[in-house]
Amino acid sequence: MTVPAPQAQTSSATATATAFARGLAGVIAGQTAICSLDGTLRYRGYAIEPLARAGDFEEVAWLLLHGELPTRTQHAAFSERLAAAARSLDPAVIDALGRLAAASPQASVMDALRTGVSMLGLVEQDDAPGPRPALLEQAERLLGATPAILAAWLDLTSGRPPRPWPRGSMAKALLERLTGHEPAPEHVAIFGTTLVLYAEHEFNASTFAARTVASTGSDMHSAITAAIGALKGPLHGGANEKVLEVLGEIGGADRAEAWLHEQFAAKRVVMGFGHRVYKDGDVRAKLLGAMCRDLVRGTAAGRLEDLADRIERVMLEKKGLKPNLDWPAARVYHALGLPVKVFTPIFVVARMSGWTAHVIEQIGDNRIIRPLSIYSGAAPRDYISIAVRD
Ligand code: COA
Repeated sequence: MTVPAPQAQTSSATATATAFARGLAGVIAGQTAICSLDGTLRYRGYAIEPLARAGDFEEVAWLLLHGELPTRTQHAAFSERLAAAARSLDPAVIDALGRLAAASPQASVMDALRTGVSMLGLVEQDDAPGPRPALLEQAERLLGATPAILAAWLDLTSGRPPRPWPRGSMAKALLERLTGHEPAPEHVAIFGTTLVLYAEHEFNASTFAARTVASTGSDMHSAITAAIGALKGPLHGGANEKVLEVLGEIGGADRAEAWLHEQFAAKRVVMGFGHRVYKDGDVRAKLLGAMCRDLVRGTAAGRLEDLADRIERVMLEKKGLKPNLDWPAARVYHALGLPVKVFTPIFVVARMSGWTAHVIEQIGDNRIIRPLSIYSGAAPRDYISIAVRD
């Protein structure tokens, strides 16, 4: 909700300041043709449901970048270019990551990814935005190289030499690289669905961070590095890792209610619930939640579902809050045998498609993003020279 700004207190341009909304809630901060959340989630006009069921990350990445679904020829060539970028990660980046892995093997994988992408910008000498075809090429290289950086970092911190990038779609190759074995087709399918669901979401915090950096005339890699930093936070992408940590911490379903009451009493947010935009539930969580239950039925991972159901019921009853995408995504990744530390990095790999599309859109019709603030500091006062200060 927006409230009128006290004009006398605005820090600048008081005549144009009209409203203040904490956290920019409800503020329209720009236009986009990439994604809409009106009624249901749509990428470039296509409803999310069939895209998610197809689970084809390359198809969606192309759609976000180009505005149209790819032809079969375009899809094959695009997929091959992403795989080529993954296979040919610059040795200077691998070498630098190797030194960092030796020095800080416990570093967060998100920090490694953020650093790796920043290094890619350096080796590519990306210093300013190029024309649209050059930006699209950069986007493709980032889409292919980022999962390869992730996989290389995991190898380097485990003391293994980086293994080659596997054949097949992004979903299959990344899942194979992260688990170390060839995945079952049904696992590739649901993993692909999560990549599609994570690919894009309008003016979320990380995308807005990327657009803000791009709006200054800075380069693609600087914008994406900022976006990765924003995604790391537990109120944004970092929530999917916290969800699984919390489910592990609670233990059995019989502890759910007591644990939630402790969180409410301590005024802590419950990870995986609530959303700035969806107030009647996240359409992506509904879709993936149903798929997750089918995936884990009758397996060891199915034990978490009773606990998850109990938490969902109490959150709705007591807080009126429904799950967001991170709630089922964390359970799906756990069921696929993925370690918790790669959950948010997988989100980076997927959201790279949305981020790069937004950076290109911002550059294509740019005005610097520079909002106002309400000054809340000391009243005007006179400077006292240090020579006469105590
Ligand atoms: N657990 C408990 N309470 C929550 C909550 C949660 N997950 N999410 C929101 N609330 C509470 C808020 O504290 C607020 O309470 P108040 O009115 O007493 O202050 C109320 O619900 C309304 O919050 P809202 O304005 O809808 O939240 P927001 O838009 O500022 O924040 C999130 C949105 C996503 C940051 C927030 O819901 C959250 O922190 N969720 C947990 C982290 C998460 O899952 N992030 C991933 C998002 S996709």
